[in-house]
Amino acid sequence: MQRERNAYQLMEFQSSSPKQTQEIAQTLGRLLRAGDCIAAEGQLGAGKTCFAQGLAKGLAIDAVVSSPSFVLAKTYPGTPGFLHVDAYRLGSPMEFWDLGLTEQMDESVTLIEWAGNVMDALPDDCLGLAIERVSDQERVLRFSGSAGRWQSVLDSLRAALAQLACPESDS
Ligand SMILES: Nc1ncnc2c1ncn2[C@@H]1O[C@H](COP(=O)(O)OP(=O)(O)O)[C@@H](O)[C@H]1O
Ligand SMILES: [Mg+2]
Repeated sequence: MQRERNAYQLMEFQSSSPKQTQEIAQTLGRLLRAGDCIAAEGQLGAGKTCFAQGLAKGLAIDAVVSSPSFVLAKTYPGTPGFLHVDAYRLGSPMEFWDLGLTEQMDESVTLIEWAGNVMDALPDDCLGLAIERVSDQERVLRFSGSAGRWQSVLDSLRAALAQLACPESDS
């Protein structure tokens, strides 16, 4: 499901509630910068939009983030901004190119739902996110990507989440 080149399974997280998924996403959002792209996959109801909402919070975006299914792409201004794309109805990488989002992607953190539909049009250095629905409330979030920067971002994410769970322990 993930792109072949450059993609390593880097880290996985368990979530047992929407709140926990958003907490992971929000914490990740604080570690991202303009030009970063997250290629999200997972069946309907897996939690991609839930994750996007947390991510936007971490980017200090106040607006309510809703599924961009009908508009395909939605931009939320900020520094960086947040670009939320739903590729569910896109049939090919070409259709993604036709949206003309390159400039916005440079200035924003981008999250693309159903990224598998348009993977060949996405930057090589995307962070892959596959969300698996295990039960009603349980999800596994699997991150993949090139090992360099993303490994260190995910190490920081894991450390920050451990700190949130156990604030009194030494960092
Ligand atoms: N651990 C969890 N993480 C994320 N969503 C969860 C979790 N447990 C239950 N849910 C529910 O699953 C649904 C996920 O919906 P949504 O984020 O719109 O999925 P997607 O965008 O992948 O189709 C929501 O109704 C949410 O409340
Ligand atoms: Mg969605």
